[in-house]
Amino acid sequence: MASQYQAIYDSWKNDPQGFWGKQAEKIDWFKAPDASFDAKMGISGRWFPGGETNTCHNAVDRHVAAGNGDRVALIYDSPVTNTKRKITYAELQDEVETLAAALAHRGIGKGDRVIIYMPMVPEAVIAMLAAARLGAVHSVVFGGFAPAELAIRINDATPKAIISASCGIEPSGIIAYKPLLDKAIELADHKPSSCLILQRDAMNCELTPGRDDDYAAAMAEAREKGWRQPPVAVAATDPLYILYTSGTTGQPKGVVRDNGGHMVALMWTMDHFYDVKPDEVFWAASDVGWVVGHSYICYAPLLFGCTSVIYEGKPVGTPDAGAFWRMISEYRISVLFTAPTAFRAIRKVDPKGALMADYDMRHFRALFLAGERTDPDTLHWAREKLQVPVIDHWWQTETGWAIAGNPLGLGLVEVPPGSSGRPMPGYDIEVLTDEGEPVAPGTLGNIVVKLPLPPSCLPSLWNADERFQDAYLNTFPGYYMTSDAGMIDADGNVFIMARTDDIINVAGHRLSTGAMEEVITSHADVAECAVVGAADQLKGQLPMGFYVLNDGAERDPDELEAELVALVRGQIGAVAAFKTAVAVTRLPKTRSGKVLRGTIQKIVDGVSYTTPATIDDPAILDEITTALAARGLIG
Ligand code: COA
Ligand code: AMP
Repeated sequence: MASQYQAIYDSWKNDPQGFWGKQAEKIDWFKAPDASFDAKMGISGRWFPGGETNTCHNAVDRHVAAGNGDRVALIYDSPVTNTKRKITYAELQDEVETLAAALAHRGIGKGDRVIIYMPMVPEAVIAMLAAARLGAVHSVVFGGFAPAELAIRINDATPKAIISASCGIEPSGIIAYKPLLDKAIELADHKPSSCLILQRDAMNCELTPGRDDDYAAAMAEAREKGWRQPPVAVAATDPLYILYTSGTTGQPKGVVRDNGGHMVALMWTMDHFYDVKPDEVFWAASDVGWVVGHSYICYAPLLFGCTSVIYEGKPVGTPDAGAFWRMISEYRISVLFTAPTAFRAIRKVDPKGALMADYDMRHFRALFLAGERTDPDTLHWAREKLQVPVIDHWWQTETGWAIAGNPLGLGLVEVPPGSSGRPMPGYDIEVLTDEGEPVAPGTLGNIVVKLPLPPSCLPSLWNADERFQDAYLNTFPGYYMTSDAGMIDADGNVFIMARTDDIINVAGHRLSTGAMEEVITSHADVAECAVVGAADQLKGQLPMGFYVLNDGAERDPDELEAELVALVRGQIGAVAAFKTAVAVTRLPKTRSGKVLRGTIQKIVDGVSYTTPATIDDPAILDEITTALAARGLIG
């Protein structure tokens, strides 16, 4: 089939408002929007002004009302607890209207914030939907973050309630969540008035009297008393959730997602991009704590009426590198979406893909990869072994869906390996020099998107309009700055090469090296430090720290490294995967005092570099090389 991509992209470009207005007909509105877009509303315009709707109604109730209550909405598969569970749309409706009622009973209503700090269990998705049902604003915090990071989010979002669990289960062992939650609340200035704690069989926890309630008991009480919470009408432009993501400072950015535009954009992607049908099984192997989990474990598959999968396990080791194939075969999964790092992990353990032979995957149609650059090796391996289209697509927490990709539903276009595909409708992508001049095709530069951004993209940061404008809009007036560098070739294929800020990508997780540096320099013996992302065959990048001791401080490097590793783990979390801190006597800087992190990174990665003309003392680069060689960290 000839691809319809160009025709659809052009139809959007010719009439953006008409394009999205038509897509908006696919969701239930309690009150139809007055217009598709109001350019004067908000900071750079808002989608579907005047419209009223409810995201939970659209994701759940609508399907039950249409007679699809018996269809499986969620599959929960947890190799780490040996649990499997299927939840139909009717059962999901019962769960969310009960939990929403229990929350309403605790004083949670429209506009209130609810933090969700949970492992990969169905209750995490149920909690998101229950908040949405109430018109409350959820903020899911990934379980791998430490109490200090959770505390920052509690202070910023000021939640009335927190929903959490007694523990999470990682291959390394049981992670007690409750002490982490207690510590975070102790650290935070803002205190939630109530917490609901899901007790898990693997490890129960003590509840804090006067603040905590047992999740199951709260649900039982609501059921016993017949409390049921109907969906609350919210404005299309009201916030559905806040998702914190790493920014250029230690303070994470609270990306805001609205209700109307979010639903409209996600619905468009399910058939046009991912090519799925409403009764198929769609699996995003991510975590609900990340944007991929928000959009493609929870919202998009449910809005579209698919079956979505919640997998509490890893691609390898739970129990083996055949775990993904077992899932695809057992649940007749049509489409899988994950990060390239998962495939690198599988390939490392089972390079021949021998474990695939044990499973029937004839129904499997496509693999989508995002979260980090897909290296051509991994792309070719996955294509050869799976014999289905393997599609890279590029997006950000800020957008909630693909900015560029190869739309299977519209018919694939020719995309060279290493490219994330073509711009999606809604995104007019350009590449600019630092001075804001357009570059010729195939030339590296700053990737920007012409305003206005399409539906689902962030209208602002939570309580931080100025930071939003500074971080994204002010550098290139009229454009959204993605902070990704790359190029567009003569055929319109987009290549994402690197971040232009301090963000590194570790196992598909977005982390700020600046935040790690803040933690390391807080150590009493450290004068200054630099953290860079060292290339890693499995995780894409791994943070590596370089520190200079305070004058007069004498420390055993191994001992201090262990302290710094523990500090970053304690302050940011295990997810930072910070394991290496190298002692150096000086850091390379420009004459104006800027640390040359880019050059350090090139030394670490063994990439050739030219000594920056502005360097204060070139001999420091040799000192870094010697320190790395002495540790066996470079060849
Ligand atoms: N709660 C508590 N701790 C968690 C956690 C959670 N929800 N998730 C991860 N962690 C911990 C891990 O146990 C690990 O701790 P450790 O240092 O004690 O071993 C640490 O955080 C780092 O986790 P991770 O980066 O996931 O590394 P890993 O070695 O456990 O697994 C992969 C590596 C590649 C298998 C895994 O990252 C993966 O499956 N990634 C692909 C899917 C994905 O998550 N994509 C994200 C965006 S699409
Ligand atoms: P996150 O907000 O966590 O989704 O991370 C977004 C960042 O991850 C982007 O700005 C890119 O730097 C990187 N990224 C995501 N998807 C891709 C991709 N397909 N190719 C290259 N980089 C990607």
